[in-house]
Amino acid sequence: MASFSLGGNPAVVGLDIGTDHIRVAQVKASGGSFQLTGYGLVGVPMGAVVEGEIVDVEAVAASIRELVRTSGLHPRDCAIGVSNQKVVVRLIDLPYMERAELHGAIQYQAQDYIPIPIEDAILDFQIIGDYMTNADEHMMEVLLVAAQRDMVGNAVRAVEDSGLRLQQIDVTAFAMVRALMGPTSVLPDEGEEAGEATGIIHISSGLTNIAVVEKGVPRFTRVSALAGNQFTQAIANTLNLTFDEAENLKVRIGLPDIDRAGQTEFPPDIDPARGAAAQDALEREVSKFIAEVRRSLDYYLTQATQVRTIRKILLTGSGAQLNFLASYLEKGLQAEVRLTDPLSWMTVSPQCAQIAEADRMGSVAAIGLALGSVMT
Ligand SMILES: Nc1ncnc2c1ncn2[C@@H]1O[C@H](COP(=O)(O)OP(=O)(O)O)[C@@H](O)[C@H]1O
Ligand SMILES: [Mg+2]
Repeated sequence: MASFSLGGNPAVVGLDIGTDHIRVAQVKASGGSFQLTGYGLVGVPMGAVVEGEIVDVEAVAASIRELVRTSGLHPRDCAIGVSNQKVVVRLIDLPYMERAELHGAIQYQAQDYIPIPIEDAILDFQIIGDYMTNADEHMMEVLLVAAQRDMVGNAVRAVEDSGLRLQQIDVTAFAMVRALMGPTSVLPDEGEEAGEATGIIHISSGLTNIAVVEKGVPRFTRVSALAGNQFTQAIANTLNLTFDEAENLKVRIGLPDIDRAGQTEFPPDIDPARGAAAQDALEREVSKFIAEVRRSLDYYLTQATQVRTIRKILLTGSGAQLNFLASYLEKGLQAEVRLTDPLSWMTVSPQCAQIAEADRMGSVAAIGLALGSVMT
């Protein structure tokens, strides 16, 4: 997968720096199967990470140190992901050339495709494949990644200040693909019909990652700030609650059952009128969310050179646990939506089973980052 430097070392842990938690995962591979051998998470001070960007380097470094101390993992090397408005991934078509030649050419070509000034960007690419056009031109498909240098610099400093060694920086969405699709993310998926693509939606607190995968290869990714915190904030605004009160209410009530509209029975301590008002607020946010996802998927489909459909969507991230969200998405996006997480296909060692299983939906990015160094 595209990455800014190549690792290949099983001792490398995956470190997912989120908006309100940092998670660490360690994975071992043996004979084609994968085991989660270590897992941990720690809170991040509010405001230190905003929409996927590290704002307070020292606070994040301190949280990483705390996580290392409490996880019992003794890691030395790590892989991190970047995922925010300052990382762009584009699938581009170029005349066929050798890899070495592409290295030089991409520097000149990239600016046509990315909104970041090339002198401020770190570039990486992966050759997806090549093909002949009707006019007999030999072309190649290249997945281009561009990340803004200062944003990456902050992430590098936070890791290095914590005392860990940074082995690899990955695009978080690529790590998510590995974590959800497992070994099929590096092999063609035989079950996928020609022209079919799979969507991935990962909802965390501050950020949603949307990706499209074809034959195990990520071909599109975009982030949105419409995520779990926004759902909570909508309830807080409507009912005039603090964020924490609204968060608690959100997790307890969720959306109404889409097939039995208006029939929710609330727990006795929740006033039914307030419960219904909170669900209305949630429904409005979810409608916006669906529109946002649809825009991304439509953009991908109109860019695609062949006729394609997205029939299946994998839904994950802690925020995906909102009651009945999968049904709303299924209806709104007209696709099969499946809630999933990496522990559905990996084994988990007993030492970390309890903590990892309690956070299985939130574990995707950290596990995918760890897998990057053991999966080939
Ligand atoms: N059962 C639940 N129902 C609805 N939302 C949930 C539930 N559990 C967690 N969430 C939401 O998931 C989000 C946290 O996602 P997480 O992956 O932990 O984010 P981060 O990576 O920033 O730590 C929060 O918005 C939280 O409200
Ligand atoms: Mg969290």
